[in-house]
Amino acid sequence: MRVGMLTSGGDCQSLNATMRGVGKALFSMYNDITIFGFEDGYHGLIYSQYHQMERKEFSGILTRGGTILGTSRTPFKLINEPDVNGLNKVASMVHTYKQLKLDCLIVLGGNGSLKTANLLSEQGLNVIGCPKTIDNDLWGTDMTFGFHSAVAVATNAIDCIHSTAASHKRVFIVEIMGHKVGMMTLYAGLAGGADIILIPEMPYHIESVCAAIEQRYQGGSPFSIIAVAEGAMSYEDAQLSKKELKKKLENSKYPSVSYELADQIFQRTGIEVRVTVPGHTQRGGEPVPYDRVLATQFGVEAANLVKKGEFGNMVAMKNNIITKIPLKEVAGKLKQVDPNSQLVQEAKEIGISFGD
Ligand code: F6P
Repeated sequence: MRVGMLTSGGDCQSLNATMRGVGKALFSMYNDITIFGFEDGYHGLIYSQYHQMERKEFSGILTRGGTILGTSRTPFKLINEPDVNGLNKVASMVHTYKQLKLDCLIVLGGNGSLKTANLLSEQGLNVIGCPKTIDNDLWGTDMTFGFHSAVAVATNAIDCIHSTAASHKRVFIVEIMGHKVGMMTLYAGLAGGADIILIPEMPYHIESVCAAIEQRYQGGSPFSIIAVAEGAMSYEDAQLSKKELKKKLENSKYPSVSYELADQIFQRTGIEVRVTVPGHTQRGGEPVPYDRVLATQFGVEAANLVKKGEFGNMVAMKNNIITKIPLKEVAGKLKQVDPNSQLVQEAKEIGISFGD
């Protein structure tokens, strides 16, 4: 049995823990297993940069952040464009796979990476996907590995801001990653006790945000914490076409939505506002125990799918059960926060404002 493995897209805390699960399970299932690790994501598959992964490589990496294989972004929208030297990337990936006589390729990746995985599957390769991303925005699985670790970092940022916000009677905005989805912000906002949570799925009205801040002020809490998703949007911006929004952002003097919001809040309320952006710290450090367990489960399930020959699938979690879903059903679909979900309603019931 010859298996290739790669990690693609933005890294996260439990990539190594997942590969460990795959590797350990495969080595105990087969006597004749050869695992090839491709370096820096699809880049390694395109340019034949790989090494044989020995059994010992999978030891001692459960708690290590990052990825021992390295990663890179290979945008799906450019996958059919030749590289700078005119190389056909898809043909090259198929060639590497065939040259190595692989029986299967395991891809640990998020949305874009799994679209490419599906494309390779359509090209006739045996591919298995593992749902990686701090954003937890992959359709077809309730949970992705990396999410809870990143939420823990973002929550810690909010926790640390709390005391200084109270001392200075300021409004603090903590900008949380998540790309176009507010799942991380919703969780970290709730876990960190944010007063206002702004997410892309629920465009905000600046009047409502300021009203929530002033209401707290009048109620004897002269500080507020706002958890803002990096993709959050005002109601007005949400009405713009993609093109109009792009133009607006290109010409904006603000580095991100949080700074625009800070300016607007100060103009309207006169209260001092500060912005904190934990940024890529959210993808760093050790995975939390939940992610270590989930990563191990996903890794073992990927190995089981190899054994059963059930290719063209992504491992997934549905209602706490580890299962699988066809890659073609997942590719290109985004999982977003449902504004009518129980969690959002519960948050509203304890007085959190979504600025909607
Ligand atoms: O998808 C993971 C993620 O961390 C997003 O939350 C964020 O928008 C993006 O990647 C950042 O990408 P990069 O590491 O390329 O700056």
